[in-house]
Amino acid sequence: MATNPQRPRAAYVCNACGAAQPKWSGQCADCGAWNTLEEVARPPAGQSRAGGRGGGFAAAGPTESVIHTLADLRPEERVRTSTGIGELDRVLGGGLVIGSVVLLGGDPGIGKSTLLLQACESLGAEHPVLYVSGEESPQQIGLRARRLGVVGAGIRLLAETCVERVLALAERDPPRVMVVDSIQTLYTDLLQSAPGSVSQVRETAAQLVRFAKRADTAVFLVGHVTKEGALAGPRVLEHMVDTVLYFEGESGGTFRLVRAIKNRFGAVNELGVFAMGDRGLREVKNPSAIFLARHDQPVPGSLVMVTREGTRPLLIEVQALVDESPLANPRRVALGLDQNRLSMLLAVLHRHGGVAMFNQDVFVNVVGGVRIGETAADLPVLLAVLSSYRDRPLPLDLVAFGEVGLSGEVRPVPNGPDRLREAVKHGIRRAIVPAGNVPKEGVEGLDILAVKTLAAAIDGV
Ligand code: TYD
Ligand code: MG
Repeated sequence: MATNPQRPRAAYVCNACGAAQPKWSGQCADCGAWNTLEEVARPPAGQSRAGGRGGGFAAAGPTESVIHTLADLRPEERVRTSTGIGELDRVLGGGLVIGSVVLLGGDPGIGKSTLLLQACESLGAEHPVLYVSGEESPQQIGLRARRLGVVGAGIRLLAETCVERVLALAERDPPRVMVVDSIQTLYTDLLQSAPGSVSQVRETAAQLVRFAKRADTAVFLVGHVTKEGALAGPRVLEHMVDTVLYFEGESGGTFRLVRAIKNRFGAVNELGVFAMGDRGLREVKNPSAIFLARHDQPVPGSLVMVTREGTRPLLIEVQALVDESPLANPRRVALGLDQNRLSMLLAVLHRHGGVAMFNQDVFVNVVGGVRIGETAADLPVLLAVLSSYRDRPLPLDLVAFGEVGLSGEVRPVPNGPDRLREAVKHGIRRAIVPAGNVPKEGVEGLDILAVKTLAAAIDGV
């Protein structure tokens, strides 16, 4: 990074305009923004970091730079190692890549430490593992390990919060896998600010990332997501790490979902499903079974959809409740779905399906706390809403998926045949899906209604 030699080396940088300032102040002298100055790490005078390179705030590489020719590179296949937990391997893209940095985020108490301790058990059998805890004492971790049935033969523990000391110890005998629990408890001597502040989190993580690449160690960074907002949380690290996993769902319930938000070594949006029990997290190998809430009788407002999270299709129940509203502005509440999309779909339903809901409250919920980001939920959501509005139940053995466009057309979604086959596996016999998603030869055991418009789908139920 080139810094202007004329300017004094600053210890504060404005996060709005990037201007460097030697002193903290409430307002940036360059762009005038308030409360944007942030402390950044400055190497001690006369001592440059990163093997004799010139200063700068974030010296990147430990060794001399070399220019490669892309065609001549013979990249070795990345070494992957199993964590011993199938669902965790799945979200990692097929196992843990040695030398990669994985951020595991989630609400406090959702199970981050539990999951990683369980993974360490199996990783420790093959590789040296170092578990760095800034939150719990070795005794507390020992108690938890006993509860989980973790023997921990290959696991070394370190209770330490200074990143320089952590790295000094790790360098002596580099582990193959290192867990840092949590990044918010670590601090660096280079900065004065409190542990957990944005600058501390960023700088300590940067040091750990450099260590991971230098020592070829897989590093898990645990990060607490704060309710207040993204800024102080681990989100500031997303661009620095190779893989970002977040726990989804409520910590009150039994099920825990881990989703890959970013993955340089695998499919994004991949979902791992776990159940929390009294002996830690257990994998749920057939998650469709738990998201299909079983009713004995068909009920209005309920429909099963097939969503595809990462590389795996999942059957999930969508529920809707439509009720006359006493309010001037009726409510539209979407849990597990995008609220704006629901409003848009209701407008399409009015304009192209002839059903008006401007005096109705509409609530839609995706069972199991799953968040659906894909448009394949459009058609099932509208059919569930309509079912509740008309108080007419849909058959229990019916599924639907498909995107609904603004002109009332039903568009195909990726991997249609794959979704249909998954539905058949779970005893589904009927499907309403986009015409473009139906294979020519049909699907055995499935009565398919292929639709091109919303109106055709409404006529079909
Ligand atoms: P933990 O892994 O400590 O959460 P995090 O590291 O994300 O803050 O999980 C703690 C929660 O999990 C706590 O509420 C207790 C519960 N739990 C179980 O239900 N069973 C178990 O076997 C363990 C170890 C924890
Ligand atoms: Mg924890």
